[in-house]
Amino acid sequence: MKIGILTSGGDCPGLNAVIRGAVLNGIKTHDVEFVGFLDGWRGVVDGDIIDLPRTRVRGISKQGGTILGTSRTNPFEGPNGGPEKIKATLDRLGIDAVIAIGGEGTLAAAQRLTDAGLHIVGVPKTVDNDLDATDFTFGFDTAVQIATEAIDRLRTTGESHHRCMVAEVMGRHVGWIALHSGMAAGAHAILIPEKPVSLDQIAQWVNEARDRGRAPLVVVAEGFVTTDMEAPHSERGLDAFGRPRLGGIGELLAPEIEARTGIETRATVLGHIQRGGVPTAFDRVLATRLGMAAVDSVVEGLWGTMVSLHGTDIVRVGFEKALGNLKTVPERRYEEAAILFG
Ligand code: F6P
Repeated sequence: MKIGILTSGGDCPGLNAVIRGAVLNGIKTHDVEFVGFLDGWRGVVDGDIIDLPRTRVRGISKQGGTILGTSRTNPFEGPNGGPEKIKATLDRLGIDAVIAIGGEGTLAAAQRLTDAGLHIVGVPKTVDNDLDATDFTFGFDTAVQIATEAIDRLRTTGESHHRCMVAEVMGRHVGWIALHSGMAAGAHAILIPEKPVSLDQIAQWVNEARDRGRAPLVVVAEGFVTTDMEAPHSERGLDAFGRPRLGGIGELLAPEIEARTGIETRATVLGHIQRGGVPTAFDRVLATRLGMAAVDSVVEGLWGTMVSLHGTDIVRVGFEKALGNLKTVPERRYEEAAILFG
């Protein structure tokens, strides 16, 4: 049996650990051969592959990024896209099944292709941790670690200058990275898309921290909007690929905080640093287990399912369970964190 692996959508630490886990389990327990599609669905559509022998995955679980490259190519577009053409390409290359490692968009495409008869299993991936039907996604723990370290650093310079520091972290739809890094670093306010609050409320938290002699620390997810500012993202338009431009909420908040509190305020956007570099041990283990389980799913012919983490177990769920609903931060998690604000 020959399996093709692809990594698609935004990258995150742990992708290489999934690839290694899959290849080692496949070779050691199932006598499977592997190839990798280059740049996500682009490699599937173009039939652009590399061999993935055991030597190719040696030592890669600690490497950031993906050795296969990634893209946001839609497999239904272009002259060679769509299920029939892709099936013909896979047949020509002798590939029996595909392991698709990706987020919502990747899995939605995988579901459509599976419905059309292709043999695909999925591995959930998003640094934002917003995919439903899995407790955690790999890459999230690493992003939280990186953000926490950065916020700790912002705290010391903020304290030296008696400034308010605003750290903008990733999370266009959900605030998991902000919630966890903010709690870990002891932020005085955590602002997330799920919970719009007013500028006056933010200023109150900042003032409370200042009045206790602290340098106020605000962590904001990029998708946050206040209740009393026009949604900033709508003004930023689309990028050349038709995706909303994100980022910048920190810079918008800083002068508003200054105006309301009189505290000098600086904003820092952490950006793609959160997605780069070495994965944490937790992410390496999770990613490795998911990769291994995905191969078991292929061998069992569980097409249209993805491997997912439930508690400490890796289980299988249908693509449809993961799609359609974002896993947002529950109210009770936010309320719990908010006890520590100010
Ligand atoms: O979905 C993951 C994510 O990192 C988001 O947090 C962020 O908004 C987006 O991807 C950035 O995408 P890109 O790498 O295309 O700029």
